Amino acid sequence: MTADSLAAPRAPHSAPRNKGVNLEKWGWLYMRASGVVLVVLIFGHLLTNLVLPEGGVHALNFAFVAGKFATPFWQWWDVLMLWLAFLHGGNGMRTIINDYVRGEGVRKTLVWVVWIAVAVMIVLGTLVVFTFDPCLGVTEDSTLWTACQAA
Ligand code: HEM
Repeated sequence: MTADSLAAPRAPHSAPRNKGVNLEKWGWLYMRASGVVLVVLIFGHLLTNLVLPEGGVHALNFAFVAGKFATPFWQWWDVLMLWLAFLHGGNGMRTIINDYVRGEGVRKTLVWVVWIAVAVMIVLGTLVVFTFDPCLGVTEDSTLWTACQAA
């Protein structure tokens, strides 16, 4: 393929490999499987945060989030959503970059930037969910003071 022509739609990005793990196939399957699970996780998330609470969206505040992060069920729900969505979004962006970026150096750099961003967000997000402490740094003038003293 020259720089001015497009590859045939079904042409492999690189030379076909007949041995080893077919990462493109697993990536393709992952997009479908994670998509199905994400529908449940995302709509469940929106329903429990914005629709079901009394007062709807107005019930959403620091205490509401702190309450959810005190429950292992919601911690795992949110962490699963975080991991699946970032890996799904990252892999989707990788596909778009591979489809549209012509220069090999730029393409490789952008794919690296995507995976680094995905890794940073997954590590930080997972840390936040599992180490979240609403009483951290609470002082006597805070409305949380009494509750945090009792805990
Ligand atoms: C609601 C649940 C979701 C479902 C059912 C879903 C489904 C899919 C499927 C089946 C693909 C593959 C399309 C293809 O190969 O032609 C895809 C691609 C993609 N998804 Fe999702 N997705 C969901 C949520 C998300 C989220 C939350 C993000 C962002 C974090 C995202 C970002 C992307 C991107 C960037 C692509 C690549 C688009 C492309 O190939 O042109 N998706 N999605």
